[in-house]
Amino acid sequence: NEIKIFSPATVANVSCGFDVLGFCLDTIGDEMVIRKTNEKGIKITKIVGADLPFETGKNVASVSALALYNDAKPDCGFEIEIYKNIKPGSGIGSSSASAAGSVFAINHLLGNPYNATQLTGFAMKGEAVASGCEHADNIAPALFGGFTLVKSTSPLQVLQLPTPKDLYVTIIHPQIEVKTSEARAILPQDIPLQNAITQWSNVGSLVHALHTNDYNLISLSLNDVVVEPYRSQLIPHFDLVKTEVLKAGALGAGISGSGPSIFALSKSKTTAETVAKAMTQVFTNTTIAFNTYVSKI
Ligand code: HSE
Repeated sequence: NEIKIFSPATVANVSCGFDVLGFCLDTIGDEMVIRKTNEKGIKITKIVGADLPFETGKNVASVSALALYNDAKPDCGFEIEIYKNIKPGSGIGSSSASAAGSVFAINHLLGNPYNATQLTGFAMKGEAVASGCEHADNIAPALFGGFTLVKSTSPLQVLQLPTPKDLYVTIIHPQIEVKTSEARAILPQDIPLQNAITQWSNVGSLVHALHTNDYNLISLSLNDVVVEPYRSQLIPHFDLVKTEVLKAGALGAGISGSGPSIFALSKSKTTAETVAKAMTQVFTNTTIAFNTYVSKI
């Protein structure tokens, strides 16, 4: 009647795949405890580690839980405890971790009536509260694991992609605020044809590289000519971080989700740790506080 879960952080977009590609971190994430109650409804009873709303209609975890609950109409209620390790607004899927975690746990307590795609659909309702739009590129990898591609949101179709076994991610989170809504608002509505060609060639080759364990092709595909030129201006030292991590041996780097976190992919844990040092070095003598993470994907 109670479950304790790890709800992972995720990196959306993965450079070229704006709103469609994402991957899940193996070791960085929140914890949640979800409990069946005799009293009906959804209640958030505890939030540790972040200042987030307790009202059922305002917290992403309860909004997504409620979407599932109203569909399943069970004969009980649920209470949710949230232990946040992922800072809200960091760009590594903080809201998605809460949204995905609550629906995963409630589904488990109900005997798993829903599949991962259906859970993604419920969790998107919570994500919409946080970011103003129902994108699934953080939620899908949190629920499916590894790399995912959101083929379509209506109808919802998620493809699970393979993950090469030595692939690691390094993330630096500079503690400045970048709101997803603002990071979306600065994007142009039209893409020059030549940029579109470059972008879809990169998405295609990245997907192929994941299927064929081709680390060199991963490296060549991690480019974003559509979104990064605009959003990188919101992130201090972005270009320098990118230059330094490539020198340190990373396969490539980009903005994690809508930022401000920057991610880099590496082949091997040792390289990912060297990359973390290179990222740290860039921010060490600045006034900006930061955290770095290394995780298997
Ligand atoms: N794909 C979304 C964006 C992810 O880049 O706006 C937000 O976390």
